[in-house]
Amino acid sequence: MDLAITLDQRSATPLHKQLYEELRMAILAGRLKPGERVPSTRALSQSLGVSRTTITQSYEQLLSEGYLRAATGSGTFVGCQAPDELLKSRPVEASRPAVARQEARREIELSRYGASITDIVPFEPPEPEMPISFKSGRPALEEFPLDLWRRLTLRHYRANDVSLLDYANGSQGYEPLREAIAGYLRRSRAVTCEADQVVIVNGSQQALDLIAKLLIDRGDPVAVEDPGYLSARRAFLAQGSELLPAPVDESGIIVDRLNSKTFLKTKGKLKLIYVTPSHQFPTGATLTLPRRLDLIAWAEKMGVMIVEDDYDSEFRYGSRPIPALQSLASGDLVIYTGTFSKALFPALRVGYLVAPAPLARVFARAKWLADRQTPMIEQRVLADFINEGHWERHLRRMRTLYDKRRQALVHALETHFGDRVTIMGENAGMHLMIRLSGKFSDDEVTRRARLAGVGLVSARLYYLGESRGDEFVLGYSGLSERKIREGVRRLARVISS
Ligand SMILES: Cc1ncc(COP(=O)(O)O)c(C=O)c1O
Repeated sequence: MDLAITLDQRSATPLHKQLYEELRMAILAGRLKPGERVPSTRALSQSLGVSRTTITQSYEQLLSEGYLRAATGSGTFVGCQAPDELLKSRPVEASRPAVARQEARREIELSRYGASITDIVPFEPPEPEMPISFKSGRPALEEFPLDLWRRLTLRHYRANDVSLLDYANGSQGYEPLREAIAGYLRRSRAVTCEADQVVIVNGSQQALDLIAKLLIDRGDPVAVEDPGYLSARRAFLAQGSELLPAPVDESGIIVDRLNSKTFLKTKGKLKLIYVTPSHQFPTGATLTLPRRLDLIAWAEKMGVMIVEDDYDSEFRYGSRPIPALQSLASGDLVIYTGTFSKALFPALRVGYLVAPAPLARVFARAKWLADRQTPMIEQRVLADFINEGHWERHLRRMRTLYDKRRQALVHALETHFGDRVTIMGENAGMHLMIRLSGKFSDDEVTRRARLAGVGLVSARLYYLGESRGDEFVLGYSGLSERKIREGVRRLARVISS
């Protein structure tokens, strides 16, 4: 461990006293935490360029006062409790140098982006984890083939290939992974693309962030589905865009409504329209083929780019998937994004975007500026995972599992609520939406559900305009059938009580 300590060789204060003061301040200010190991006397004497006797003298004083404690054979550690009387007589704040205190109090002036982000992304204290949580989009993590993933990872580390540790050759992403993704998208989603249009990003949220940065200027209108995906809206708002809500029904975004005056008068200014056609978030509607074609014709007429977020398109039950919008449109109209957060696991932080060929390089530059590259080990392991057939196998297993969980949820809802529930968007994805009839507010339902140990999300959060107040989004992919049945039973009980 390197300690940020400066000793003044020319000072009249002896070095061991200076070091004692520096270490004591670091402990009191919390820069060194209780239980944290401090460097050995030998290591510290080398890194500070002073004698070992000097270090030993200061350590001994700190040990005798209880700031440090020695554990025989394993080293010296910060004491678990700083000496009480010192803390009482000399509060930490008062012991810091005056300059530092002044700086802490000074109002920090943020950029426009920085200032707006506090409103756009409000601080939400973490919700307590519920015994049964219908939170949407959570994969069945306990079913992930972790042993296999570990084996594939170790194979790369064992190969001793140091290029794994270096900057990548270009920021667009590991080429074999881009090839694998392009092949998968061509086969399963009919996406028209080559590997050089694919940019690997840290989850689709980074794709949305880069899209917003590259295509939106302050004040630009952007059309979004209403209700729609909150994190996409936030990424566009953070760039200063003005959101135009486009209503959604059971067939997805209502393209006719895009021909209203509100939209038509933005011609020439409207930069992009964001849609989730496979499984609209949150309603679960699948955009019908005629509407897809109408949307493309409208975007062409308006000169607007379409952002197609295909976040959970891997999961369809019964019906055949409709080809991606990207596959139906001409070359430069659509930016397509996808993620491995849903089908594999969210902490992987690997997603991708397929850009029109002329834009791919610009995205790669923006990615370079943002964070250079997506971590290489994950990209290589994922490429193997896809190329060796594990991806398709995992998808087949998860489709069967999620289908069973989905059926359990639909059945439980129908059993307990009968004609008081309307179920929407259950033919695809990892969540569905319900409308519950009755004389209660969504707030009241979620509050009562929480008391019964059930986490439930109102769809109100996803509306830009007025919401109905009786809609809820229920994710089922991460819950066992038993928990799903129990969750719905508890829900029915608290609502009827
Ligand atoms: C509509 C939509 N897009 C994308 C994502 C995935 O985000 P990421 O890939 O950044 O984890 C989600 C996750 O909840 C989502 O609901």
